Amino acid sequence: MRRWRTLLAMLAAVVTAATMSPNPVQAAAADDPVVPYVVGGSRAALGEFPFMVRLSMGCGGALYSPTLVLTAAHCVSRTGANSSITATFGAIDLQSSSRVTRKSNYVYRAPGYNGNGDDWAFIRLASPVSGANIATLPITTSTAYDTGTFTIAGWGAARESGAQQRYLLKATVPFVSDATCNSSSMYAGGVIAAEEICAGYTSGGVDTCQGDSGGPMFRQGASGWVQVGIVSWGDGCARPNKPGVYTQVSYYSSAIRSAATSLGG
Ligand code: ARG
Repeated sequence: MRRWRTLLAMLAAVVTAATMSPNPVQAAAADDPVVPYVVGGSRAALGEFPFMVRLSMGCGGALYSPTLVLTAAHCVSRTGANSSITATFGAIDLQSSSRVTRKSNYVYRAPGYNGNGDDWAFIRLASPVSGANIATLPITTSTAYDTGTFTIAGWGAARESGAQQRYLLKATVPFVSDATCNSSSMYAGGVIAAEEICAGYTSGGVDTCQGDSGGPMFRQGASGWVQVGIVSWGDGCARPNKPGVYTQVSYYSSAIRSAATSLGG
């Protein structure tokens, strides 16, 4: 079930990136509530989340270091040299003339990734990025921040089957425990408790969606924003009893750090 959904999401991301048209995989119900943004969010301000990255395959990411973007494994095809990805920084409007872009030169996909867990990857930039409204986002290295209220952001669909967005959208979602997220009314054991973290409302309405994948979920730490999750999967978007499922960064923090070192930054 999960693999099937992840595959669909990958397909949707590719199709969406190629056409910038609404995700054709899921049909919208006629009575879908019309909710603006991420799903159920609002427009972010310039400079509010200076680590947010838009990737040309139709995913999000977070700036980890001046040359590394942390994203989802399901957004990339494999580890190896790769100059085909364009990353956009320093703007909330993807068409802004002050946006900064970089090409990739290498992709590192989490070792062992098979569509089930391990949903993280690095994209290395051909040259370091810096500038106004550009900054890195530290990752959490402990489980201490794996609770509370999280912020999500991205240029993905503002509703299930909706179009990709020109302006960055944001929202906040509450932590959902593994026990609740894996209960029969939610994902019934489909969540890998140690490696994934859920967030959303039981009543739905606010969520990440197709095209937000790879983007960060973050919260305030001791001195500013800390990344606790990576947008990974969900059943539709913002449905009741279907929280968003995120890669649990604390579980992978050592692996992420050593990968970054091996990638030179
Ligand atoms: N896998 C999706 C993507 O490729 C993201 C799905 C997030 N879904 C959710 N309901 N939170 O963009």
